Amino acid sequence: MEHAIAAYRQPVKRLFIQTFGCQMNEYDSLRVRRMLGTMGYETTPRLDRATVIFLNTCSVRDKAEQKVYSFLGRLRALKAQRPQLKIIVAGCMAQQLGTALLSRFPHLDLVLGTRAIGALPELLEGVQADHRRLAHLPDTDQEGWQQLFQGADQWISGVSAPLTIMQGCNNFCTYCIVPHVRGRERSRPSAEIVREIQLLTAAGAKEVVLLGQNVNSYGQGLDESIDFPGLLRLIERTTDIRRVRFTTSHPKDLTADLMRCLAELKTLCRHIHLPFQAGSDRILKKMNRHYTVADYLDKVDRLRRACPEIALTADVMVGFPGEREDDFEGTLQLIDTVRFDNLFSFRYSDRPFARAVQFPDKVDEALKAERLVRLQALQASITLAKNQEEIGRLREILVEGESRAAEGQLSGRTSHNRIVNLVGPRQIIGRLETVKIVAAYMHSLKGERIRNSEALS
Ligand code: SAH
Ligand code: SF4
Ligand code: F3S
Repeated sequence: MEHAIAAYRQPVKRLFIQTFGCQMNEYDSLRVRRMLGTMGYETTPRLDRATVIFLNTCSVRDKAEQKVYSFLGRLRALKAQRPQLKIIVAGCMAQQLGTALLSRFPHLDLVLGTRAIGALPELLEGVQADHRRLAHLPDTDQEGWQQLFQGADQWISGVSAPLTIMQGCNNFCTYCIVPHVRGRERSRPSAEIVREIQLLTAAGAKEVVLLGQNVNSYGQGLDESIDFPGLLRLIERTTDIRRVRFTTSHPKDLTADLMRCLAELKTLCRHIHLPFQAGSDRILKKMNRHYTVADYLDKVDRLRRACPEIALTADVMVGFPGEREDDFEGTLQLIDTVRFDNLFSFRYSDRPFARAVQFPDKVDEALKAERLVRLQALQASITLAKNQEEIGRLREILVEGESRAAEGQLSGRTSHNRIVNLVGPRQIIGRLETVKIVAAYMHSLKGERIRNSEALS
C-alpha cells in the first residue's frame, strides 16, 4: 500500500538560496540552482515553502559573518517545525569553520567547502536518504566543470550574467582570508569560458561579468598560452555577447596591454575596479600589496591617457593595524587626487588565518568608525559631483530589468557602470538604448529615452 502511494506522490522539491558576499558566490549560487534544477528542484523566494535551504556564505569581513550567523539562527525554528527540511551551508565560512558549524548549529545538515560544489547533488541525495549530517571539505576541486553544461538547453539567464574565470588567489595580502578559504589560483580553460558565454547568450544574456580575485593574472598554469587581454580578445572575436565587464584587478598586475583592450575593444565596458586599499606606502607594505602610492597613481595616469573615458572604482579600508593619522591622511589625499567614480570602503577587521591578526598597534574601533565617516563624506561629494557631470549627456545603457529603487521604472547601466532609471516599455529589457541623462543622485541617474537619430546627431 505504502508503495502505491509513494509511486503516485511527486516529492516536493523547492530550493531557497541565500547568497552572501561577492559576485563569485552569486555565480556559484547560479550553478547550484542549475544543478539542482536538473534534479527537479524549483527555486522559491519563500523560506517557509522550501524543502532545501542553501546558504552561500562569505567570511571576508567580520560583519559579513555576523549576517550569516543571524540568518542561521532564524532557521532553527523552521527546522523544528519541519524536520524533513535540509539546510546546507556552503562558501567561505563553510570552508573556514567546517565541522564546527555542524556542532554549533544542530539544525544544519550539510556543510560544503569551496571546492565541493560539484559534489552537491550526490551529497544531498545522501543526506536525504539516511539523515546523516556531514561536512565535506575536499582539498582539490570537485567541480566537474562538464557538469556545468548539463541541461544547458534549459538555462534562462538574466541580462547580465556572472562568470567565474579563475578561482582562488596567490597574493596573500596580510589582512585577507580569501587565499586561505578559496585556495591557490587556478584558471579555467579559455575554450570552456567561450562555450559558457555562447550558452549564456543563447539563454538571453547580453552581458557577462568575468570574475576572479585577480583577473589580471588569468591564464597562469593553463596548458594553453593565453593571458587576460588574450581572453578578452577571444571573447570579442568568437561570441555574440554585447558587453563584457570584469572584476577584480590587482594594481600590480595591470598591464599596458589590458589598458589597450579597455580603449579598443567594442564589447568591453569602459570601467575598471582597481582596489588600492590604502594611501600610505608604509601601510601598503605591511599589507603585502607590492605597489606604492606613486606606482598606483602612475597606473591611473597611464590608464586615463590610454582611455580618457574610463570610469574608476576601488576598495579601500581604514584602521589597518598601525595606521596613524598621517597614513589615513594619505588615503584621503589619494582619493582626492584620483577622484574615483565610486568607492567601496571598509573598516579593517581581524580575520582568521590572516597574518595581520598578529600585527601590533590595532586601531581602536571608535577611531576606525570616525575615519570611515570622514572618508565616506569625502567620496560622497566626489561621487555626487561626478554623477552631476553626467546631466545633459547622451549615454548608451543596457536595460537590465525593473528598477529596484524607482517603482514602475526600468533600470540599466552605462558602460561606466552607473545605474540609470528610466521610463519605458518592458520590451526594451535586454536592449542597448540611448538615453539622455536628466537628473543625478548619489546612487543612480535618471535618463530619458531618445530616438536613435538624435543620438547620432
Ligand atoms: N581580490 C580583491 C578583493 C577581494 S575582498 C582584491 O584584491 O582587490 C574585497 C574587499 O574586502 C577587499 O578589496 C578589501 O578592501 C576588503 N577586505 C578584505 N579583507 C578585509 C579585512 N580583513 N577587513 C576589512 N576589509 C577587508
Ligand atoms: Fe585577498 Fe589580496 Fe587576494 Fe584580493 S588579492 S583576494 S585582497 S589576498
Ligand atoms: Fe567572501 Fe569568499 Fe567572496 S570570503 S568575498 S565569498 S571569495
